[in-house]
Amino acid sequence: MNKHQQLSQLLRRQIIQSQFRPGEKLPSIRSLSQQTKVSKNTVISAYMTLEDEGLIEPHNRSGFIVRNTQPVVTSNEVPVPREVRLGATALSVIRAASDLDGVALGSAHPAVQFPACRKFYRILAQEAHSFANDSKVGGHYTDPSGHLPLRQLLARRMCLQGDTLSADEVIVTNGTMEAISLALQSVSSAGDIIVVEKPAYYGSLNCIEALGMKVLEIPCHQGTGMDLELLRKALLQWPVKAILVNPTFNNPMGFSMPASNRLQLLQIAATYDLPIIEDDTFGELYFGKSREPTLKQFDQDGRVIYCNSLSKTLHSDIRLGWAASGRYFDQMTYMKYVSSLASPGILQFAVARFLAGNQYERHLRRVRRHYNVARDDIIKAIYRYWPKQISISQPAGGFLLWCTLPAHVDGDKLYQQAKVMGINITPGSLLSCNKSFKHCIRLNFATWQNNLMFVDAMKELGRLIAYAIESPSYSGHS
Ligand SMILES: Cc1ncc(COP(=O)(O)O)c(C=O)c1O
Repeated sequence: MNKHQQLSQLLRRQIIQSQFRPGEKLPSIRSLSQQTKVSKNTVISAYMTLEDEGLIEPHNRSGFIVRNTQPVVTSNEVPVPREVRLGATALSVIRAASDLDGVALGSAHPAVQFPACRKFYRILAQEAHSFANDSKVGGHYTDPSGHLPLRQLLARRMCLQGDTLSADEVIVTNGTMEAISLALQSVSSAGDIIVVEKPAYYGSLNCIEALGMKVLEIPCHQGTGMDLELLRKALLQWPVKAILVNPTFNNPMGFSMPASNRLQLLQIAATYDLPIIEDDTFGELYFGKSREPTLKQFDQDGRVIYCNSLSKTLHSDIRLGWAASGRYFDQMTYMKYVSSLASPGILQFAVARFLAGNQYERHLRRVRRHYNVARDDIIKAIYRYWPKQISISQPAGGFLLWCTLPAHVDGDKLYQQAKVMGINITPGSLLSCNKSFKHCIRLNFATWQNNLMFVDAMKELGRLIAYAIESPSYSGHS
């Protein structure tokens, strides 16, 4: 065996034994050559061998990181439709997150300390002043599909990102949640089967449950999202009514579906003439150079209902979202009218004024940088304070981290114990309908701070997890 083969074998073993973990930076070429007393070329050859094997990938042009080779969460069995029975568990987790004074790593709330958030509320106050003092302003219901100038601004923003979209298909909603609910009600009815990702955002699962529909959960790959082969097989067997996906910086897994898979998904949907509901809630929060393409961008025949909001980019309390409803505009507008008549005019006026300026773009650039740094910080804390047996996602955007613990660890119990310590996390069991992810937890790093409180919280979580790993009586299987 020559020197570079010996070195690549050593590194391979270290990666497999988790001495270097997914996302962790490998030593620089110079330092590894000094440490191992081989030439830089030998180190480069060893790294290139591991890159070819898919174990590592180049990072920031200056080095390599370990790739996330977490096993695909899948089996070859064709999934069967199921009723969702999450009930009010997710609601109680959201309530606990909003009550908590401690360390908020649970519910997916963004950081809100930025000037743009204050600016938005100043504009809202000015709008309130106009509404209070001029009876001509806001003296009637707004159009159920939304305030036209706002719809135009939203359509223009999406066009700048590469969509071809007119304000005529935009509907203003109370957050992405309402957009998803209206979309589901517009394309399907109680008893129908909806394809979802496994795992999936619990709000969508709860919505499907409340509407009396069933889910067909298609397992997701950590790197590429929904397993499209399994989807194809499942569609041969089950009479599905719609596909609901969160393909960009997915909640909870963090993956972004590659463009080629997006195209395939659209082709599959076209074969069965199915609508796709695209939840793009985290799409703006990319850490790379540009936005990921949306499914909507590739949509030729109006089958994609695109849903988004300002909840993750600005403030989740603003409750302003929208749907680009494609060919379902009339049904969705009707559903909006019968469910809430219209979104509050005052809010829509304020958001339109806010989006008309250039502060939102500046703000987005700022929060992307902020979340990128926060991601690296929380990952460092995990590597430092948590047991090695945990594997974590490496999101390239958004602010959620998906942590897979050894199979016997009970994430629900961990959630309860952390809550007692004043630390809020999200138990993985909420993110599928049969608790398949009970050994997982989800962390929100948007509000991460490099201070004693957060570091202590990570140490505490590390201790709880270590205890759970070592003590079989702790597990859900005891
Ligand atoms: C993937 C995803 N979709 C939708 C929502 C709901 O968003 P909104 O607050 O805009 O209703 C959330 C909130 O966490 C989410 O994570």
